[in-house]
Amino acid sequence: MLGIKYPIMCGGLQNIATPELAAAVSNAGGLGTINISMWPDLNDFRDAVKKTKSLTDKPMCVNISMIPGVDMGDKIQRYINICGEEKVEVLETSGKDPAELVPLIRSLGIRHIHKVPAVKHGVRAEKSGAEIISIVGAECGGHPGADMIGTFILGAEAYGKYKAPYQLGGGVYNGRTLAAAMALGAEGVVVGTLFCASKEAPISDNHKQWIIGAADKDTVLCQKSIKNVVRVANNQTARDCLEMEKKPGVTLQDLMPIIGGNIGKEAYKSGDISKGMFPVGQVVGSITEIKSVKDIIDGMVTEAVEVLGQLDALRRN
Ligand SMILES: Cc1cc2nc3c(=O)[nH]c(=O)nc-3n(C[C@H](O)[C@H](O)[C@H](O)COP(=O)(O)O)c2cc1C
Repeated sequence: MLGIKYPIMCGGLQNIATPELAAAVSNAGGLGTINISMWPDLNDFRDAVKKTKSLTDKPMCVNISMIPGVDMGDKIQRYINICGEEKVEVLETSGKDPAELVPLIRSLGIRHIHKVPAVKHGVRAEKSGAEIISIVGAECGGHPGADMIGTFILGAEAYGKYKAPYQLGGGVYNGRTLAAAMALGAEGVVVGTLFCASKEAPISDNHKQWIIGAADKDTVLCQKSIKNVVRVANNQTARDCLEMEKKPGVTLQDLMPIIGGNIGKEAYKSGDISKGMFPVGQVVGSITEIKSVKDIIDGMVTEAVEVLGQLDALRRN
């Protein structure tokens, strides 16, 4: 459906999903993604699409997150039109039901993935017209949704619930987890945190080293109080955010001075790991090396094939 070699998609990574990273993923046989929130100016966004297209002749994806704080509102249709004009192959929406965007996406002939943190939201998204459902579990980096159900449960629960194919994310980082997702019924995986630790990720070495050194318990859930829960590195900003959230009636606007995307973006450049929200999943405890995107994807595929072979041998014996 997507014209890709391997069923591995890089999630929309705010402030990280550059044309270079996206092209590296697509060139390695996966689906690379850029993220509209990184280009508030539409001409800059068009240039980013063109740049990605100049770096790969493989399909690419554009992520449109409609989560509070990054939602581009009425401007989204204009981003989608640019995607049509520049022949972007795939769009991934997330954050709220995509119904109002579906007619435009369909009219432009772009494949449409919608990402959800709960099986029931996927049912609704499919009714609204999404062609592929991405489901992410509670362990994922970024927004795991309110229900906090794990990837294993969601992956199995989704089986048979959709006519559309679905992919699974939250904790996928090697061939074993890829094979496990497929055994549960998913046709592909969405991977975020692991690609943040790739050589091509445009973040400081300090951030990558933090991932390599972190344990599975080193993430924390913030923004529950404003119903916009997000899993991030347990750094000073996350702790400050949790402190501010103790105040009754706290709003997104109250938190923005410390959680705003630009602060995180600045920290990715300066290497100050204590500042800004750094979305990462519990999988940080399992990532132990900084590798190129190609090595990551080749390694995942090789291991998944081996694992499936071992399982098949069990069946035959
Ligand atoms: C640094 C970072 C930024 C992210 N930003 C976005 C985003 O802007 N939009 C979005 O839909 N998902 C975003 N996500 C979520 C990922 O696309 C993906 O769903 C998630 O990382 C998968 O779980 P994993 O981190 O366990 O691999 C982000 C994740 C990370 C790690």
